Amino acid sequence: MERWYRNTVIYSLDVSMFQDANGDGIGDLPGLISRLDYLSRLGVGTIWLNPIYPSPRLDGGYDITDYYTIDPRFGSLGDFSELLNQADELGLRIMLDLVVNHTSDQHPWFQSARADPDSPYRDWYVWSETEPPDRWLGTAFPGVEKETWTHDPVADAWYRHRFYRWQPDLNTDNPEVRAEIYKIIGYWLRLGVAGFRIDAAPFLVESRRPDEPTTWPDYGLLRQIRETVSWRRADAVLLAEANVGDEELLEYFGEGDGEPTRMMMLFAFRLNQAIMLALAREDAGPVRAVLDRLPDLPRHAQWATFLRNHDEVDLGRLSDDEREDVFAAFGPEPDMRLYDRGIRRRLAPMLAGDRRRLEMAYSLQLTMPGTPVLRYGDEIGMGEDLSRPEREAIRTPMQWSHTDNAGFSRAEPEQLIAPPIGAGPYGYPKINVTEQRLDPNSLLTWFERILHTRRECEEIGTGEHQVLDSGQPHVLVHTATGQRGRTLFLHNLSPDPCHCSLDPRLAGDSTPLGLAADADYGTGVDLTAIDLNGYGYRWIRLHRSF
Ligand code: NOJ
Ligand code: CA
Repeated sequence: MERWYRNTVIYSLDVSMFQDANGDGIGDLPGLISRLDYLSRLGVGTIWLNPIYPSPRLDGGYDITDYYTIDPRFGSLGDFSELLNQADELGLRIMLDLVVNHTSDQHPWFQSARADPDSPYRDWYVWSETEPPDRWLGTAFPGVEKETWTHDPVADAWYRHRFYRWQPDLNTDNPEVRAEIYKIIGYWLRLGVAGFRIDAAPFLVESRRPDEPTTWPDYGLLRQIRETVSWRRADAVLLAEANVGDEELLEYFGEGDGEPTRMMMLFAFRLNQAIMLALAREDAGPVRAVLDRLPDLPRHAQWATFLRNHDEVDLGRLSDDEREDVFAAFGPEPDMRLYDRGIRRRLAPMLAGDRRRLEMAYSLQLTMPGTPVLRYGDEIGMGEDLSRPEREAIRTPMQWSHTDNAGFSRAEPEQLIAPPIGAGPYGYPKINVTEQRLDPNSLLTWFERILHTRRECEEIGTGEHQVLDSGQPHVLVHTATGQRGRTLFLHNLSPDPCHCSLDPRLAGDSTPLGLAADADYGTGVDLTAIDLNGYGYRWIRLHRSF
């Protein structure tokens, strides 16, 4: 307890796509403010905003030109402080993306650095006078961006970029750059944000030296970031994006006296890929295996679980066979795939809009060890627009209603930042908030209920998780045991109904109690004979002490 991030639900959204208040076709902060009541009713506790800084937005805002203000299209700093005030009133926290591995090439720092070898900003970036041998290696976007060093004609030198060529990497070896990073952090904390998602953490800590590209990562930077944050605001949280191998994961948390000294939270990429594989194969095995293998975390360190985020489903850590199975099930068309490793779709269409399966998948996520992160629009089952390039396919306006522009904006359709999905089974006439909030059987209503039930189960976020033998390969059975009790979860990944028999002693002297399920399984729970529908799930409280 007392660590808010361990029992919150994080909702991630892109301000530009959420709600346009002034009618210019672009979502904005006043629009988001007007929807805070919706998010409060939904039952989320924390809102993570994708970058809101000025940006050419060639990469969804992850190409920043000024770290100290808001993109004027979204509003002003005044609007931002108003967002914080209004969110406070509702008990909602706001987290920002901290994108300091790179800037936009339009950032005045880079413009100065490239124009003049004597610029004070020259050494804020990573240069090479000659063509680096690793020019063609290590791009984050295979198939789209080919090189990681680009020749700049203005500077007549090569600059390094792990992402697109318009995102030059900052030289984090330079103490001035580090000082600036701490300044950026201090600034937004002063305004009142609850923490940061650390973008591209593995790239941020990797060596900047072209002559020594294999030098060990400098995790010390993460520790310094942590110290800055914790000194300025004791309860602020750092959530790192680090899709790295098992052996490296613990480095991102760090450890001193049993507590994390670097990041408090890490996205559970490994678990995400296992869940996608389990859903594709209708087999609980992959999730079981990953849960068994997840390292013990330092005290108060936490996973952030997710099914979908704002990027492609990254399957890069599966074996070739496994990845092919997920592709076959959820991304059968070449156009649905991206960067040789992922799928650029939303979850609802990947699961063919099957409500039973969608609920089971989210129930699974919500019962996994960690803090759940949801993506805007997934609570109503939004789809994707594959006619849009790359990851833009899943970055479409929030579908509020069946009226013009999905209720997102009153601008003329051609002025909109992106067209809302109009046609087909996922179009806004069919999938929208207004209709679902009136329907007691809608996905949105389901989400409201399950998120409230989850609030009653602190053991999921903070307790010990244990996988039990279900006797059925397609059923995952696990428990979470916390200070106040123990809850049992069953998830049937297959369409066939089944029956599980568990040890009746699991509940001790207590009477097991159903908390949530896909259907009415009757009153009373007999642990030796638990029915599960096809794609069924059940949350059963085994005992509670006080
Ligand atoms: C990771 C972000 O999730 C992604 O959207 C972005 O393109 C890269 N980092 C570069 O900032
Ligand atoms: Ca607007």
